Amino acid sequence: MCNKNDGHRKSETYFQDQTMWGFVHRSFTKSMGYTDEDIRKPVIGICNTFSELNKCHAHFNDLVDYVKRGVWQAGGMPMEFPTISIGEPYVKPTTMLLRNLAAMDTEEMMRAHPIDGVVLIGGCDKTIPAQLMAAASVNIPAIVLAGGPMLNGRLNGESLGACTDCYRFTLEHKAGNLSDEQLSEAENAICRSDGHCMVMGTASTMASIAEGLGMSLPGCAAIPAVDARRRHMSEMTGKQIVKLVEADIRPRDIMTKEALENAIKVTMASGGSTNAIIHLVALAQRLGMALPLENFDKISAETPFILNVRPSGQYQMEEYFEAGGVPALMKELEPLLHTACLTVTGKTVAENLDGVKVLDRQVIYPLTDPIEKDGGIVVLKGNLAPSGALIKKTAVSEKFKKHKGRAVVFESLIDLDNRIDDPALDVDENSVLILKHVGPKGAPGMPEVGQIPIPQKLLEKGVRDMVRISDGRISGTSYGTLVVHVAPEAAVGGPLAFVKDGDEIEIDLQNRVLHLHVNEEELANRRAAWVRPQPHFDRGYGMLFEQTVLQADMGCDFDFLVPKQLRPATTAENQSSDRREEL
Ligand code: FES
Repeated sequence: MCNKNDGHRKSETYFQDQTMWGFVHRSFTKSMGYTDEDIRKPVIGICNTFSELNKCHAHFNDLVDYVKRGVWQAGGMPMEFPTISIGEPYVKPTTMLLRNLAAMDTEEMMRAHPIDGVVLIGGCDKTIPAQLMAAASVNIPAIVLAGGPMLNGRLNGESLGACTDCYRFTLEHKAGNLSDEQLSEAENAICRSDGHCMVMGTASTMASIAEGLGMSLPGCAAIPAVDARRRHMSEMTGKQIVKLVEADIRPRDIMTKEALENAIKVTMASGGSTNAIIHLVALAQRLGMALPLENFDKISAETPFILNVRPSGQYQMEEYFEAGGVPALMKELEPLLHTACLTVTGKTVAENLDGVKVLDRQVIYPLTDPIEKDGGIVVLKGNLAPSGALIKKTAVSEKFKKHKGRAVVFESLIDLDNRIDDPALDVDENSVLILKHVGPKGAPGMPEVGQIPIPQKLLEKGVRDMVRISDGRISGTSYGTLVVHVAPEAAVGGPLAFVKDGDEIEIDLQNRVLHLHVNEEELANRRAAWVRPQPHFDRGYGMLFEQTVLQADMGCDFDFLVPKQLRPATTAENQSSDRREEL
């Protein structure tokens, strides 16, 4: 393998090799139509996550053609390869179960082949995180090319967003305010082009993060999937990766501590998805850095929320693109950013931002007159979440920012399904809904079920938000008072496991508190009576996941994929930063 300073590209060790294996490499490659001249060029892998099972990536083969054009133009030799493709709508039980598999797949494909540099094409929620994690671990020159968001949905003159409006339409249909025909019409109108979800959900957040980190070309994240300029961006990305190989600029030269902080600032200023926290923690660990949740809270408190894009704002990715996209947002954030960071352009953040302008102040607010003076995500701690929990402040109802209420507990998703709409359920609008056993090990895979449905009888009374707490995740497109990622989770004996119906729970965003008002003696009794749940799997990938996945505050990576010095003290169960602090 080519090391940074040994002067040889990895592909040269294959194609310039004078042994029988060199003959085999050359002959088998030339059989695909490549010439002797071609195989002397840098080999650029193009990681294509196209799949008909992944709607968000349906247009990727088209983008690949343009990337290849750019690679050839710049003097490289493109070689496309597949990895698993994870799309949110179909994958059961949850895509998060497969993120680490995708990261391993991408990593091993990059390691095992004569690839000098790679273009990573991703889009749907878990794909860009997996690709960044792989790039961090392998550390060969890499650029992320996001697939781009869908065009705005349109219906009766209204702009629709997937999947924020998916929740709204489903809720209103359930409440009896929409007919079956109207629901079907909405289904037809909401997703009207190729691309990923067009609000600031996880996909848009992670594409923005790739750009904020310096791992995508400036402007890449917000271009609509079907806009001709995404094809231009694909071609430019193909050209640029060849230059990165020639300059030997690698992901670890770009994804520094400062670059991670820039990415967190972009996330907070954008009202980005809570899922980004898990992915950024996992990415930082792959880079050899611990990234405690407190860092997010600190940066969030120092970063104004300035992007008026749903689900926390009014507009969508199409308007964000027209307002200048991530470069314009970063231009506004420039005084807060580490502008000396290197990026895939080969230039610094400051150089990339030279001359950039915000084109629409309705979409990107000034730093001096923000939508909110601090960022979107708050880290809560307390006896209910000793290793932390997250809440997206920008989506919280004002009256619930400080609240005490009685717990209504659901032990599992099945329990929730069976009882949530029971007219006899003892619940009112001030209750706190608790959902257990939907964490990394509990569900398993930490599904996006933290947007616990409002009970039917309260829906009919007009209730549209309640305090809801779980050890699961939420979609980046969710809204409401949703406390998620409670760590440690119930399935490993975290305090959430001991909450009972009627317990008083306190939430206080300003003071970062999540407290279970049950005395210590009673909690100790409940802990002593706790029975560990049975594992879900006795073979296969599921078993590997269940045995090795870390807690949410450690990014849900597998323990053996994290550099040794950052692994928790035990790999047996409670794999959270609590354990790491014991090291
Ligand atoms: Fe793929 Fe939303 S379903 S990004």
